[in-house]
Amino acid sequence: MDSFCGGGTTLLACKHAGVNAHGFDILPFSVFLSNVKTKEFDIENLKETNKKFGEINKWTTPSSALPDILLLKKAFNKETEQQLLQIKEQIMQIEDVETRDFFNLGFLSILESVSNTSKSGGFLRIVDRNIQVEEIKNLFLDRIQKMIIDVDSYKKINGQAKTEVRAFHGDAREIPTTNMYDAIITSPPYPNRHDYTRIYALELVFDFVKDNDELKKIRYDTLRSHVEARQKYEVNGYKIDPTLKQLINQMEKNGVNNPQVIDMLKGYFEDMYLALLEMSSHLNKNGKVALVVSNVRFAGINIPVDEILSEIGKQAGLKPKGIWLARYRGNSSQQMKTYRRTPSRESIVIWEK
Ligand SMILES: C[S@@+](CC[C@H](N)C(=O)[O-])C[C@H]1O[C@@H](n2cnc3c(N)ncnc32)[C@H](O)[C@@H]1O
Repeated sequence: MDSFCGGGTTLLACKHAGVNAHGFDILPFSVFLSNVKTKEFDIENLKETNKKFGEINKWTTPSSALPDILLLKKAFNKETEQQLLQIKEQIMQIEDVETRDFFNLGFLSILESVSNTSKSGGFLRIVDRNIQVEEIKNLFLDRIQKMIIDVDSYKKINGQAKTEVRAFHGDAREIPTTNMYDAIITSPPYPNRHDYTRIYALELVFDFVKDNDELKKIRYDTLRSHVEARQKYEVNGYKIDPTLKQLINQMEKNGVNNPQVIDMLKGYFEDMYLALLEMSSHLNKNGKVALVVSNVRFAGINIPVDEILSEIGKQAGLKPKGIWLARYRGNSSQQMKTYRRTPSRESIVIWEK
C-alpha cells in the first residue's frame, strides 16, 4: 500500500514485481495518472486511434471552454487554448474507456510544454515560450507514440499482468478502506513548502476541478507541508517530539523570514503522526513500512525529518527498524547564497508492526 501514491511509482514497481497493491492520493490527477500507468491496454486499438488522430487536418470550432481562472489566461494564448480544446473534444469521443484515458493522459502530459508555465523548484512559474500552434498536434501524437512504445515493450517483457494494482482518491490521514496490508512503501510530501496543487494546477483545472474554489479546497486539505494547507483533522494523543521542540525554539529565537514556517512544521509532524497511525492500523502484524523522506533546512537550521518521524512512529504503534541513507539533495539557490552548499539527507525510514 502507498498512501501518498503521487506519480504511481510504487504501484508500477509492484505491478512489475507481481505484487498486488493499492494506492491513495488526495489529488484526483495523481489517482488518474497512477491508474492509467498501471492499466492493461489493447495496443492495436491505441495504434489505430493514433492513426485516426494523425489523419485529422480540419478541426471544428470547440463547443467547450476552459474555466474562468486567471492562471489559464496567463498559461495559454487564445489559439493554443482553441487547439487544446479541439484535441480534448476529439479524445472525449473515443468510445473505449481505457483508450480514452490513455490519450487523455498523453494530452495532459504535454500541457506544460505548450503553456507559458514551467514547473520549477516546487512552483509553477510564468515563462514566455513562444508556442507555435501548428506544432501542438504533432507534439501530442509524438507523445502518444512514445507511450505506445512503452506499453508495448513492457508487455513483451512482462506478459499479461496477473496482479491487482489500483489507485483510489483518499486522504492518508483517513484512508478510505478496511483492507489490511503486508507492507507499506510510500513517500509523503516533504516539509519543504512545495504545494502540489500549484505544481499540477494546469492538469487539475483542465480536467479535475471546475473552478478556482475547488482547487483551493484541495490546497487547504493537503498535508501541512506548505504554508497554505490548513488543519483538517483534530490531533489527539500526540506529544511533540523533544528534538523538534528544541529546534522550533531555536528558530523562534533566531527568527525566520516567514514565521508561518514554524506553524507549518508543527502541523506537518501532527499530520504525519495521523498518517503513521493510519498506516499502523492498516498493517498486518510483522508488516513493514518504508517511508522515503527528506530532511529540510530553514534559516540555516537542519530539521532531521527522518529521525523525528522515526520517533513519532513509536507513538503510532510502529517499531523503528532503521534509517537508510538514500542520497543527499542540494539546497535551494536562495539558501545557497546565505548558507553556502549544505545538502540535506534523503532517507528511507523503516518500521515494523
Ligand atoms: C512526494 S509525492 C509522492 C511521490 C511518489 N512517491 C511518486 O513516486 O511520485 C506526495 C504526494 O502526496 C500527496 N498528498 C498530499 N497530501 C496528501 C494527503 N493528505 N493524503 C494523501 N495524499 C496526499 C500529493 O498530492 C503528492 O502526490
